[in-house]
Amino acid sequence: MIDITNYKQEINNYGGSELKATYIINGEKYMVKMPDPIRKKTLDLGYMNNQYSEYIGCHIFESVGIPVQKTMLVKLNKDGKEKVAVACKDFLNPGEELIEISNVSLSLSTEKKYKISIEDVYEIINKMSVNYKLDENKLISNFWDMFVVDTLIGNTDRHFGNWGFIKKGDIISFAPVYDCGSSLHPLLSENEQIKLMSDSIAFKNSSYNIASVYTMNNKKIFYHEIFKNPPVALKEAIKRIVPKINIEKIKEIIASTEGLSKTQKEYYFKDILLRKEEILDKAYKN
Ligand SMILES: Nc1ncnc2c1ncn2[C@@H]1O[C@H](COP(=O)(O)OP(=O)(O)O)[C@@H](O)[C@H]1O
Ligand SMILES: [Mg+2]
Repeated sequence: MIDITNYKQEINNYGGSELKATYIINGEKYMVKMPDPIRKKTLDLGYMNNQYSEYIGCHIFESVGIPVQKTMLVKLNKDGKEKVAVACKDFLNPGEELIEISNVSLSLSTEKKYKISIEDVYEIINKMSVNYKLDENKLISNFWDMFVVDTLIGNTDRHFGNWGFIKKGDIISFAPVYDCGSSLHPLLSENEQIKLMSDSIAFKNSSYNIASVYTMNNKKIFYHEIFKNPPVALKEAIKRIVPKINIEKIKEIIASTEGLSKTQKEYYFKDILLRKEEILDKAYKN
């Protein structure tokens, strides 16, 4: 793991909720996300594993062939303490801008306040397609492909600030996936992981019963529920993505993640495997 403490920094322009900094690493711009001391103070957490969630989550997206930001774990010294953070390579090329879904109303010149619902995802994609002459079905596929992998990594926060489109002049495309920091139970301590792994019922509850941020028909979507009776476009995404999930490859990604204990690696793998077998594989066979 490289130590970036003395690397060049630039003024940080990235939004979002966690503590961030902008660093130049090997001549390229990276957004560096750090464990969040504000949350730590208010919630009294001595740990925060969102950087590992980001790193592993993004590499799993990459392993199934979905465009995603490049990430690496880095060390840095902050307030006299050594921290592990995740460096996310800026995916915007010169002249490109990111339009997050939460800002899409501006580009669509509408006042409508969108809800984080599947119905509104479809409406936004439809409007974007008409406005910018895009392939609507392709964008719907992009959304559900991301949803399948978010299920695998247990992402609880793919809200409208955490995905979007890249705009370059008049050309619009689906942006690479970013912000996987709220997957893989980032707030669990190692002791809690050990406890969960020794109790198969509690473990299944925790790894299986995960809600997405979306609603459908005014009801919160639990991943395991929607996969039992998926909308047609999700069904197609399941057929496309599930065969590309290579559990050996995922094992390797986790095993080679620096800075994690043996227990943490075991926990991440078991957590992912449970959703793969109990949710994704079952839906694939249906
Ligand atoms: N790799 C990236 N390249 C360019 N912009 C990014 C990248 N990752 C995130 N961003 C921008 O920075 C914002 C904050 O990053 P995000 O990972 O979502 O942080 P948080 O976990 O605090 O929500 C995003 O909403 C997006 O606008
Ligand atoms: Mg975010």
